[in-house]
Amino acid sequence: MPGNRAPGTSAFPKVGRDARPKVRLGVSADLPAVAAIQQACPEAARWPVEDYLDQEFLVAIVGNSIAGFLVCRTVAPGEKEILNLAVAHGFRRHGVARALLNRALEAFRGAVFLEVRESNRTAQEFYNAMHFEAVSRRPNYYDSPPDAAIVMKFHSC
Ligand SMILES: CC(C)(COP(=O)(O)OP(=O)(O)OC[C@H]1O[C@@H](n2cnc3c(N)ncnc32)[C@H](O)[C@@H]1OP(=O)(O)O)[C@@H](O)C(=O)NCCC(=O)NCCS
Repeated sequence: MPGNRAPGTSAFPKVGRDARPKVRLGVSADLPAVAAIQQACPEAARWPVEDYLDQEFLVAIVGNSIAGFLVCRTVAPGEKEILNLAVAHGFRRHGVARALLNRALEAFRGAVFLEVRESNRTAQEFYNAMHFEAVSRRPNYYDSPPDAAIVMKFHSC
């Protein structure tokens, strides 16, 4: 019962140990849930979600819920760019982003780049854990709020 929830605990559904995320291609019916996750994640990029259908677009399902999404594109042969990645708050630290990234890169060989806000330590911790390396810093890259970008790279071989 919500009224019995301990102070400070999440209102989101608890993710069980065995609730491994399933990753599949995103489709138009997923866009409202993806938009809701994006809206709730100020650190994520804010692209019009309809545009994701034109990119490499994956969603992670836990139970009956869309727990997160990843959008990337192939910019050149052997080169990919991660455009957006976000996991709903109640599903974090359960391997959802790891599952999305693994699926995005499973048959890919080459360099993967992304930009992340310098202030977004959580995302940098995640990408470091996924063996990405910071390769450059772009000052004054972001607006609202202003921030530098850290460019990170992973080589998949
Ligand atoms: C960054 C984000 C996508 C990670 O998603 P997640 O599903 O919670 O990540 P995972 O559970 O797959 O984490 C895998 C590993 O990354 C690292 N990691 C993830 N979140 C972390 C955190 N808050 N602090 C430290 N390390 C973290 C850990 O090593 C973790 O493994 P562990 O849980 O076994 O220790 C999520 O926090 C998020 O949506 N953030 C807001 C949006 C965002 O910043 N997007 C990136 C834009 S570039």
